[in-house]
Amino acid sequence: MSSKHAPLLAPSLLAGDHANLAASVRLVEDLRLPWLHCDIMDGHFVPNLTFGPETLAALRRAGSKLFFDTHLMLSEPHRYVEPFAKAGANLISIHIEPDYDHTATLTRIRALGCQCGIVLNPGTPARAVEKVLPLVDLVLVMTVQPGFGGQSFRRDMLPKIEQLRDWRAARGLAFRLEVDGGVDLHTGPECAAAGADTFVAGSAFFRAADKPAFATAFSRL
Ligand code: DX5
Ligand code: ZN
Repeated sequence: MSSKHAPLLAPSLLAGDHANLAASVRLVEDLRLPWLHCDIMDGHFVPNLTFGPETLAALRRAGSKLFFDTHLMLSEPHRYVEPFAKAGANLISIHIEPDYDHTATLTRIRALGCQCGIVLNPGTPARAVEKVLPLVDLVLVMTVQPGFGGQSFRRDMLPKIEQLRDWRAARGLAFRLEVDGGVDLHTGPECAAAGADTFVAGSAFFRAADKPAFATAFSRL
């Protein structure tokens, strides 16, 4: 049985106002969008740094009830799943590329009470995650090389999204299929046509002059 999830827009806090993250979070809440994408970078797996679990915990303390879709861009994600779970992450996604025990880490994320996701860089083929597909709630296909917001969408990732959609249907799986990087009002519909149902948008969301219209467009994909 193939799964069809309702489309979800997950604004990326990376493109928010880092001097006032709570205000950026409120912008998302005011639109009644349920998800917030939190990008965690270690300056090693990717050439950039962002924030850690304390920031998520502080946003929770400030009252946010958003679903924290936490994208760990870390060389050693297994060392950090527990602090992020304790800080209030709802879903924790880990990359397939670094060498660590992916299965054990996904299982650990579940045991900590979170949903779990697996992420593929643009250069990583779909078959690299085939083995873990039955274990995950979400597969994240990077549509840019991770590390920075504001990059151009990689259209050559569309066949990978289609492949994962087809495997999901053929194998009776139900993971969400998320895209991240360069997603906007033009590229979002292309991803949806390829099978994506969960759309991370950083720059395009925070720069949109009409955010309600932007959110509505994604709710109709
Ligand atoms: C990139 C991050 C993305 C980033 C997307 O490494 O994983 O989540 O915020 O930003 P935009 O939407 O600006 O490409
Ligand atoms: Zn991300």
